[in-house]
Amino acid sequence: MPEVCRLVVLISGSGSNLQAFIDSIARGELRASIVGVVTNKASATGLQRAQAANIPTEIIDHTQFATREQFDIELCARVQSYRPDLVILAGFMRILTPAFLRPFAGKLLNIHPSLLPKYPGLHTHQRALDAGDNAAGATVHFVTEQLDGGPAILQARVPILAGDNAEQIAARVLQVEHRIYPQAAQWFAENRVQLYNDRAVLDGAPLPNTGFIYQD
Ligand code: GAR
Repeated sequence: MPEVCRLVVLISGSGSNLQAFIDSIARGELRASIVGVVTNKASATGLQRAQAANIPTEIIDHTQFATREQFDIELCARVQSYRPDLVILAGFMRILTPAFLRPFAGKLLNIHPSLLPKYPGLHTHQRALDAGDNAAGATVHFVTEQLDGGPAILQARVPILAGDNAEQIAARVLQVEHRIYPQAAQWFAENRVQLYNDRAVLDGAPLPNTGFIYQD
């Protein structure tokens, strides 16, 4: 890994996780540099967070491409142009095809708002409520061709309280997302975590399918 790990962050929405990265770098906890923020949505309010931090931004409107793959080829080229060491999906709400995934294999992280392997896909908090779960959470994982199924690195759990709705759970989960996502990126930047033979390996030891369990 070069001296400063170069990050490109992909967003589609509010970018609160992007802000957590910006703040963690400013505090000196995450020793990395965000060299670009790319979105598929011109309306993503996270763009303002990037601009306020003087990070170059790009909009690639997926509706302008005939196929998912054509969008992914362009996205890949634009992300490659920043020469990233690590690509961070932070609320990037597009399913990616191998055209994007293969060139970034082992260098692509996502955060998913559930206790993976539970609830891949959408509406995770409502599904946890409907199942009567007493906990929800978030998981940082390497991205592979299996949707929300790549090897987990770090997972944090929050309680589901009596009377909670999905929005209340989402807000509680976001708070822990903001701690674990920069932490997992720092492990990568320090070469402590790698994708090896389809497993996430931390300090030389394969992680369980939940990833490392985060403790406050
Ligand atoms: C986060 O909760 C993240 O886990 C989720 O979108 C939100 C983005 O928030 N990601 C997914 O659902 C990916 N499938 P943010 O834009 O404020 O960082």
